[in-house]
Amino acid sequence: MLTISSPSEMTRLSKEARRAAKRIGFVPTMGALHQGHISLVRAARSQSDIVVASIFVNPTQFGPTEDFARYPRKLEEDSKLLVAEKTDFLFNPSVDQMYPGGVSTWVTVEGISEKLDGRSRPGHFRGVTTVVAKLFNIVQPELAFFGQKDAAQVAVIRKMVRDLDLDVRIVVCPIAREPDGLAMSSRNAYLDADQRKHATVLHRALLRVQKLAEQGENDAARLAAAGKQVIAEEPSVRLDYFEVVDPDTLDPVAEISQGALVAAAAYVGATRLIDNVLLGRRR
Ligand code: PAJ
Repeated sequence: MLTISSPSEMTRLSKEARRAAKRIGFVPTMGALHQGHISLVRAARSQSDIVVASIFVNPTQFGPTEDFARYPRKLEEDSKLLVAEKTDFLFNPSVDQMYPGGVSTWVTVEGISEKLDGRSRPGHFRGVTTVVAKLFNIVQPELAFFGQKDAAQVAVIRKMVRDLDLDVRIVVCPIAREPDGLAMSSRNAYLDADQRKHATVLHRALLRVQKLAEQGENDAARLAAAGKQVIAEEPSVRLDYFEVVDPDTLDPVAEISQGALVAAAAYVGATRLIDNVLLGRRR
């Protein structure tokens, strides 16, 4: 695996690969890699000739009171994991290399960026779409791999790709979970032992909703109420949102017969966790 920090050098290598008719599969990450990230790398490995992963803790997607400074950084361990998965290139730029002189040009997907996590984290998706657009330009992948774990991010990035006619195919991979159901996340490292136990309530609430839907409940409000009730039974967990929405527009749906995304976010202590389940439709 070759580690590259310079954007222009990354682009040079990508262009060389494309000239040789190699299919580039790209996995953007912020590092502190876990099996969720690794599942994306494996999907990329199986569908591409050249696998590029990026590790960049992107300051523009963190709010002023969020965890940018203390976000886990584990480059050495991450590199070993990527080597074991036969990653070809690791793109690991510095903040100055990505944003020399700061940012004046933003990519903003209006509307959808203010739903779900975008409502609770103003400006977050503008930072995500700006950095992902830049990464796509730098890496020039044919395929880019994202996790269903960040369902709103998937919807926003798909919309950006369509709206800007970006020449990249988005591949979405299923949520990787711990044995007790907790969705894997770099932020799980913030949880102490008690919080770690309570954090499974998000998944339990989603399972409850999924079961009711399987039993024939079609009404989105009733499904959301049932999910919220499960979370309310864990008093140390503070709900941010629990919504039943269209997975593409992130707008609320009244009933789920056409398929729906059930998405939840909650604070366990100071740590904000998200999880979701897709009902009645596969991507
Ligand atoms: P990060 O949180 O590091 O996640 C990188 C990718 O891994 C995302 O596509 C995310 O959805 C996926 N992922 C995280 N946990 C997962 C899990 N448990 N199962 C499956 N996939 C999972 O998302 C970001 O970084 C950033 O916003 C980024 C897109 C890199 C832009 O900065």
